[in-house]
Amino acid sequence: MTMRRPLIAGNWKMHKTPQETEEFIVEFLSKLANEERIEILIVPPFTSLDRAGKLLKGKSLLLGAQDMHYEAEGAFTGAISARMLKACGCSYVLVGHSERRELFGDDDSVVSRKLNAALRDGLRPILCVGETLSEHDRVEEKITQQLTEDLDGIDEHALAEMTIAYEPIWAIGTGKTATPEVAQETISMIRDWITSHYDNATAQATRILYGGSVKPANAASLLAQRDIDGALVGGASLVAESFFQIVEAARSQ
Ligand code: PGA
Repeated sequence: MTMRRPLIAGNWKMHKTPQETEEFIVEFLSKLANEERIEILIVPPFTSLDRAGKLLKGKSLLLGAQDMHYEAEGAFTGAISARMLKACGCSYVLVGHSERRELFGDDDSVVSRKLNAALRDGLRPILCVGETLSEHDRVEEKITQQLTEDLDGIDEHALAEMTIAYEPIWAIGTGKTATPEVAQETISMIRDWITSHYDNATAQATRILYGGSVKPANAASLLAQRDIDGALVGGASLVAESFFQIVEAARSQ
């Protein structure tokens, strides 16, 4: 029996206005009974967070943001701080999603600063790591390098509070999912890395998700793997019914 509580997170990326966000939440909550065994999280764009936070107060659907700046405030045009996100009702934040790394220049030193700032300011970070298709034959080297640089300054207590998401970039938005065995193998490698750089108790406490084309049809077989503690879902989280089916797959494990 694992001590890790499963998490199903829906990353909406650049989708939904505040009104569309409200419609999703109303529909999703009408399906969801009071949930305690697993955590369920939606991660809408910044502009929807305030409205979402008001609707989700006291509900068992959690709210997160897709990114944050590492400074608390200041002259950083276009940026959003952890304090602002918390004031909207966020408890989680994605850090180092591959789209931030590839399209917005978040390198490992920026990712590390964001991680440390999120933990300092009381948000629970979900650190995303993963390899491109051309890096796939040296996946261990790539992930190890990301973990080493991104987790700089993070002690074992902080790590046990965090979630890591393994997302092979070649499987994001492409319809190509890593097979459950391949996903399990890489995630178990991440857990082994934590054991050797921290300790076994920390490795056993750290939640690790799989992400990349998770759908209602493949969620159960991915979530059945021993080291996969949940899913970071993109496209399939935009429709309340399909996101709910993935939640149901997690519940029935
Ligand atoms: P996808 O996205 O489920 O649409 O592949 C996953 C992600 O980028 O988090």
